[in-house]
Amino acid sequence: MKKILIAHDGSKSSEKALKKAFEIAEKFGSSVTVISVVPELYLTELMEVDRIRILETLTDEAKKTMDRIKAKTSGFKTVRTIIKQGNPAEEVLETAKKIKADLIVTGSHGRHGAQRFLLGSVSSKIVDHALCAVLVVK
Ligand SMILES: Nc1ncnc2c1ncn2[C@@H]1O[C@H](COP(=O)(O)OP(=O)(O)OP(=O)(O)O)[C@@H](O)[C@H]1O
Ligand SMILES: [Mg+2]
Repeated sequence: MKKILIAHDGSKSSEKALKKAFEIAEKFGSSVTVISVVPELYLTELMEVDRIRILETLTDEAKKTMDRIKAKTSGFKTVRTIIKQGNPAEEVLETAKKIKADLIVTGSHGRHGAQRFLLGSVSSKIVDHALCAVLVVK
């Protein structure tokens, strides 16, 4: 369990995932990478100026979340944070491959999903396509 990748979307559920992942990292002495993906906007009716503004707001929010995580985990020597833009599940999977993660940790739900579904679409896509172990935290 050398490298752990945590997918964080700012939700309560991903905050739980973060906590669990750090418990594991502490036990195994793992290095930790936290990734937040600013999602692509498919709202075609949006004006370009609105699209840019929304992307800026979301990126700013992701930055703040990552800064907060960095401050909170400053006791750990190897914590990296990454912000990407694109399709969340694809970017998480791509990053896991690139850094050769041994474990991906996600929350079961995110910011938008209905709790009645068992798993959110991002975490379920990650479980389906990951090449390493995945821990979905409820
Ligand atoms: N943009 C993102 N960047 C990083 N991780 C994400 C992102 N979106 C979701 N995740 C990860 O996936 C977990 C589950 O979120 P997901 O988006 O699958 O559920 P949801 O928002 O409840 O439902 P849906 O998005 O399918 O409507 C989150 O707790 C987080 O760990
Ligand atoms: Mg979501």
